[in-house]
Amino acid sequence: MLMAALATEFGPAPDSARVEIVRAPGRVNLLGDHTDYNEGFVLPAAIELDTWIAFRRREDGLVRVASRHSREPGSFWIDDLGPDREGGNGSRVAATDPGATERRPGHWSDYVAGTAWSLRESALPIRGFDGIVDSTIPIGSGLSSSAALEIASALALLSGGHILAARSLAALAQRAERDYVGVNCGIMDQFASAAGREDRALLLDCRSLDTRYVSLPYGVRVVVCDTGEKRELRSSVYNTRRAECARAVALLVERMPGLCSLRDLEAVWLARHRALLPGNVARRAEHVVSENARVLATASALEAGDLDELGRLFAESHASLRDLYEVSSPALDTMVEVARAIPGVVAARMTGAGFGGCTVNLVLADAVPALKAVVSREYDRRTGLKGRVYPVAIVDGAGPVPTT
Ligand code: GLA
Repeated sequence: MLMAALATEFGPAPDSARVEIVRAPGRVNLLGDHTDYNEGFVLPAAIELDTWIAFRRREDGLVRVASRHSREPGSFWIDDLGPDREGGNGSRVAATDPGATERRPGHWSDYVAGTAWSLRESALPIRGFDGIVDSTIPIGSGLSSSAALEIASALALLSGGHILAARSLAALAQRAERDYVGVNCGIMDQFASAAGREDRALLLDCRSLDTRYVSLPYGVRVVVCDTGEKRELRSSVYNTRRAECARAVALLVERMPGLCSLRDLEAVWLARHRALLPGNVARRAEHVVSENARVLATASALEAGDLDELGRLFAESHASLRDLYEVSSPALDTMVEVARAIPGVVAARMTGAGFGGCTVNLVLADAVPALKAVVSREYDRRTGLKGRVYPVAIVDGAGPVPTT
């Protein structure tokens, strides 16, 4: 289907042109939110909802992309790209391409353009392509549709045969989102999309980028519940939270020389110096310190198959994100509450940046139908929204897809 769409959009392929396909998954974070940009720990997993690009390489630096989910294609010349803080995004229309469409700030293809810009800035060998994008990741739901598009774009842009380690791919894609698109994100989403592994969660140290893969207990499924409440990271308080964390470090460093980030802060030291911090800043710091400890405890509980402990850790994480970090929402709280009441739901909490989006649940396989039924009855009734339940397989990270 994607191949046919490619021919319809960009015309029949010249004889020499080969169609290639790359895919990059979305992610769900099992535990550890708002810790990545504090150089802490996270525990995401790549999920079977993913983004694909079918493409034909070009000999020049023109990129033309169309999406099966948007009527507006995008195009740009790789050499023309440059971030422009004042203008929002600095990508320019490919003026010499007769098929180029007028761009407006916030176009979906900015993620492709930003990735091209980031790879070019690192002097990597890249070339243009004509491509069709398809995705099963719901957009704006906190399952990292943008990170998946960046990682898939990087794979399509890199000239044939050039392979990058997952951690380099992730860092380049993060740079695209941060310095080109203008969302000051951490590295978790891109890392999970690039480096995920089938049936394993990824314990990532966001300072050293060391990883450990962690198995899930037998019979436990990961289920994502989408609240149906869209969140827009760019316009959210995400950057404010980052600034509050930086403020905590700046205020504490006077008493604790050597403190580089909240990753270095221990609970006893926070308790001792809490009076130095304004109330909201102290709460943000307390969340990050306790969440880091919970990530490590969750990895151990998964390995030990300790379901009670997992339930407790997820509940604590949710409460901390709601009360201390203040990034939950009534819809997320209701979704967690509804799920927790169902026998066989082992653990439930909000996941990702917050402000709407999804919850993540660990559920005994037998209880998945009950969760679906109760969400569509209880959650929808209580919130007036349309909740969606996705049991998700955990899959490998991004890569090429065989086309024969
Ligand atoms: C978003 C960001 C990530 C991370 C999470 C919160 O998904 O892109 O880097 O900060 O929010 O854990």
